[in-house]
Order: sequence, then C-alpha cells, then structure tokens
Amino acid sequence: MKILHIAAECYPAAKAGGLGDVVGALPKYLNQKGVQTAVIIPKYKTKWLLGQRFKKEIDGTVRIGSYQAPYSVYLCENVSLGFPLYVVDAPQFFDRPGIYTDANGQGYEDEVERNLVFQQAVLHWILGMKERPHLLHCHDHHTALVPFIVKHCPEYNALKNIPTVFTIHNGQYQGAFSWQKAQSLPFFEAKAASLLEWNNVINPMACALKCCWYFTTVSPGYLSELRQYSGGLEWLMNNERAKSIGILNGIDTQVWNPFTDPMIEYRLTNDVNVYKRENKRAVCRRFRIREDLPLFTFIGRLVGEKGADLLPPLIGSFLYEGAQACFVVLGTGDPSISDALKKMQSHFFGYFDTSLEYNETLAHQLYAGADFLLMPSRVEPCGLNQMYAQRYGTVPVVRSVGGLRDTVTDVASPSGSGIRFDRFTVEDAKLALYRSVKLYHDSLSLKSLREKIIGMDHSWEKSVHQYIQIYDALT
Ligand code: GLC
Repeated sequence: MKILHIAAECYPAAKAGGLGDVVGALPKYLNQKGVQTAVIIPKYKTKWLLGQRFKKEIDGTVRIGSYQAPYSVYLCENVSLGFPLYVVDAPQFFDRPGIYTDANGQGYEDEVERNLVFQQAVLHWILGMKERPHLLHCHDHHTALVPFIVKHCPEYNALKNIPTVFTIHNGQYQGAFSWQKAQSLPFFEAKAASLLEWNNVINPMACALKCCWYFTTVSPGYLSELRQYSGGLEWLMNNERAKSIGILNGIDTQVWNPFTDPMIEYRLTNDVNVYKRENKRAVCRRFRIREDLPLFTFIGRLVGEKGADLLPPLIGSFLYEGAQACFVVLGTGDPSISDALKKMQSHFFGYFDTSLEYNETLAHQLYAGADFLLMPSRVEPCGLNQMYAQRYGTVPVVRSVGGLRDTVTDVASPSGSGIRFDRFTVEDAKLALYRSVKLYHDSLSLKSLREKIIGMDHSWEKSVHQYIQIYDALT
C-alpha cells in the first residue's frame, strides 16, 4: 500500500504549529509499520529547506484563471526523516520564508491561489506517475479541495478512483472564498458546483467533508465538539458522521525524549528531581526569574484560540494577590497580546519574563525546566504540548476542552495526570494555579506525579493502527 500525505506543513521542513509536528511524525511511524508513506508540501524558503539538496521529479504548469503557473516537484535527498519528502516549487507563490504570513505576521493575500496551485501541482504530478499512490491523505483546508478535484474535474479524471482521507486539525480555518474566484479552480462538472458551496461561498473544508471517502479529527473529543459547534458546519458534521472518526494524535517520542534530547541542558537519568532542578536552573538563568518558586510556562501561538489573551489578566491578578510563582511565556502571534506581555516584563520583574519568538530549542528547554505548563485553550483539537510536557515531567494545567480533555485527567482522581479547569475565566484558571502551587509544595506527591506522567504512553503506536485500519478498508 502506498500513501501520499498532502499538507501545508511538515516538521522539520516547515512548521507553524501542531499540524507540522503530526505530518512530520505520523508518516514515519506508518513506514515503520510497513505502510509505504510519502509526504508532499510546498517548497517555502524556510531555513531547513534552503539547506537541503533535491532531485527533480517533474516540471509542469497548472492553470489559475488565465495564468499558467509553472511548477516543479522535487524529492528531498535527506534520508533522515523516515519518509520520502517531496516539495512543490512554484516560485511566485512559495519562495517566501513565512508559511502563511509575512514578517509582520500579516496573512498572505494570495492564499486561495497558493493553495490551488499547490493542490493542482500535486495532482498533475500524480497524473504523470507510472505507479500512483493508492490513497491520498489530505490535511486541513489548504488541501481540502483535493477530494473534489479528483472526483469532479475532467482534467484529473484518471485519479477519480483513488480514495481520499481528510484530517481536520483545525476546524476554525475553513479556507472559504467568494464565487468570484471560481475561475481559479480547475474546470469542474457544472452539476458538481453545489459540492463546493456552503453558505453562499466556496468552502473547501465543507467540500472535503462532502467529497472525501473518510474524514478524521485529531481527537475523539474534538469530533463530538465539532458536531455541536463548528462555525456553521454542524449539520454537515452530523450528516457525514458515518464516515468520520476521532483519532488521537501521538507525539514523536524519538524527537521528544528527555533521556536523549540534545537540546536540553541536563538529560533525565534515574532521578527526576535532579533532572528538573538542573533544567529549571538553566531556564531561570536564561530568563530573569526567581529559582525558588513554582515555574509555569506557556508555549505556543499567542492567539485567542489558545487562550493567550487570558494570560495577562490571569497572571497579573494572581501575582497582585501576592501568590508566589514565576511565569515564562514563549511564542508569537497577536500584537495586542504580545504588547500586554511585554509591559508585564518590567512590572513583574523577577516573576515574569517572555521570549516573543518561535524557538524550537527554547521550547524543549522550557518543557524540561518548568514545573507546570499552562494551556487555557478556548478550543483545542488535540494539543501536543500537554503530551510533550508530561513526557518531560512537567504537569499540564489545562482547560477541559477537545483533546486536552482526552489526554489529561485531573489529579483529584487516582489516574490523575494534570490539573484541569472548566470555564474560560480568570477565576477558574486562577483556582487551577492555586491548586498547582499547593501541589508544588507537596514534594512527595509532585515527585510521584512527575514519575507517572513521564511514563505515560503518548506514542503513535495505537493511533497508527487506527489509520491503517481506515486505509485498509478503503483500498
Ligand atoms: C492544530 C490544533 C492542535 C493539534 C494540531 C495537530 O494545530 O490546533 O490542537 O494538536 O493541529 O493535529
């Protein structure tokens, strides 16, 4: 069986969030199980991709409106990834360092065209193959028109029997665009137009739900939530439920391994407390914060979805009440949140610090050095950070939502693996912080919890098996 994953991100080549992590890991574990799996992404000008060597597979053009866009597909010669990585080079569209946004965090205006060039180039390349993939696995709205194109666009008719699987990592971004841009699509059968449409616009995610052979979400909890609320797609989510399943993401336990991680200061041996203490010391030195207090960290995009706007009022009011704890925030995003955090740096000197950047190495160091990881997400399709944290002995403090609910049990129960709160309010989150501080001072419970969560199984083992079952059933 040969599977091709089509996505906008793939770690380490191009990563903006968890989508990149998953597309960079799942194919590796599928290959290890004997399922031949390759990945294709756009050839951005990221640092990693600029440092690679490539072998050309094909040159071609695809039509976007009245424009014939030239493209090439290359195979990356780096064999260390655990799967073949192909890239689509379409210079005008992808030769930019940012994946979705420019250096000022502004989304690219030609997003629709970029996605269409990419999807068509991939399919055009497949048309010319002697041995085609047996199944196409698409991720998120950037690749959501593939199931439609292969079924209903005459140019790609030869691909219509290839099964398509669609995975929703984030249902909030549906990629919708106006019918005025319809001429950018490949020619399609007139009778299929209604499949593109949802609420009077072309909605790629809705179209994928209608046209794909099967769809998955990245946790079971998120699938149930989407059936209740999914920005207008609720009816569709329910109507297509027979071909849907929630499969929990795993983490790449080779990359995320506290016993061997080359990015952290002090690797885990058999004493979890020494490992935590040494890494915390390094973090506290790097950031200007006290070493003798419980350390909370937030790592990720500073956006409403992740609840980052709750951080300034939450941390502010917690510290004003005289609570003794320190906080470090790592991430980029919404300028209004970054500004608020920057102001807090001098205000709470010694207790609060930030690094407003995307920094993979620093993220590893924070997972190793912090006592608690804060995830006050409004929505969380799966969330990987809570699993990275657990693997590094850092207790997750999470809002009970989506995949967080599926992966973190509250310490109030014997199987507890973190601290949870329900409502998206400063009060509820603050209570969780107080409970965390209390746990921190109960050194025996903290040590045994650390040991327990480090030992939890977050590998891809179980989930890979579920994907393979779907692939088997469809091919
Ligand atoms: C998206 C979701 C996140 C999930 C990741 C990988 O980034 O927001 O919850 O873990 O995709 O599937």
